[in-house]
Amino acid sequence: MTAVSTLPATSPGTPPLRMAIVGAGRMGGAVLQGALAAGVLAAEEVGIFHPNPRRLAELSERYGVRGIDDAELHRAERVLLAVKPQSFPDVAPLVAQRNALFVSLMAGVSAESIARRVGSRRVIRAMPNLGAALGVSATALAWLPEASHDDVSMARSLFSAVGNVYDVREEQFDAFTGMAGSGPAFTALVAEGLADGGVRVGLDRRLARELARQVLLASARLLETKHPSELKDEVSSAGGTAIAGVRTLERHRLRFALIDAVEEATRRAGELSREEP
Ligand SMILES: NC(=O)c1ccc[n+]([C@@H]2O[C@H](COP(=O)([O-])OP(=O)(O)OC[C@H]3O[C@@H](n4cnc5c(N)ncnc54)[C@H](OP(=O)(O)O)[C@@H]3O)[C@@H](O)[C@H]2O)c1
Repeated sequence: MTAVSTLPATSPGTPPLRMAIVGAGRMGGAVLQGALAAGVLAAEEVGIFHPNPRRLAELSERYGVRGIDDAELHRAERVLLAVKPQSFPDVAPLVAQRNALFVSLMAGVSAESIARRVGSRRVIRAMPNLGAALGVSATALAWLPEASHDDVSMARSLFSAVGNVYDVREEQFDAFTGMAGSGPAFTALVAEGLADGGVRVGLDRRLARELARQVLLASARLLETKHPSELKDEVSSAGGTAIAGVRTLERHRLRFALIDAVEEATRRAGELSREEP
């Protein structure tokens, strides 16, 4: 594949590339934005390999990064793989080289499989979630033993720029995906249900939606310092309103439903990993 670039090519004065990003879409773009804002990367040190000239021009205009071609990509010492897993077989031959560091965001593609295809065993896998766009991702990191201390520090800085980083064993990636990766969809249902409840008891739809968001935001902030039971107990006074609602949720087995949802999402993540390209 030939990279299309409408951006300035490398010139003798161009600083050395610290990181090539392959496929800066939603997630790659969020990581790029966070890393630039946190000063983990400088725009001149980043090269973007992307097939779409419009996307390249947009990234160039917004962040001052440049496009790179196949040859420069091949020489990059660090590569962030941010393409969809199904695009990886197309991209792997272009990036294959013995000594580079590969950091992958791809869901369901194992570190061993990446190493096999790219020919380097300096492979780190990351699993961010959608919170990355706002700097509040929960990102899992796992790596092959051949990744150096500096490699891991680099990846940790990169993802710390878009939220919190958690070292997990790669075997736990499916569980992490099932819970932290899919979790925003579950809490979105909770938000929608709360808002529908508000409408049911007579609140205007727009107000109900805003209140649901605010309730989730306040709860998340309070849970930074409180155990969930403590928060529930503090809100639920004797014979009061909250405990009446809590009883109803227990009757409808909300907690069981959430446990089951995480288990099912984890099972599905495992299924998808086994179908890896
Ligand atoms: N989004 C999430 O919440 C999330 C969470 C965890 C992990 N991930 C992982 O992050 C990766 C990217 O997901 P995403 O949501 O950011 O998808 P996305 O927005 O579609 O980003 C992928 C980008 O790669 C580009 N691309 C396609 N083929 C390419 C090629 N051969 N060379 C270079 N670039 C190419 C796409 O361009 P076109 O659009 O022009 O095809 C697109 O801009 C996936 O592997 C996913 O598993 C995503």
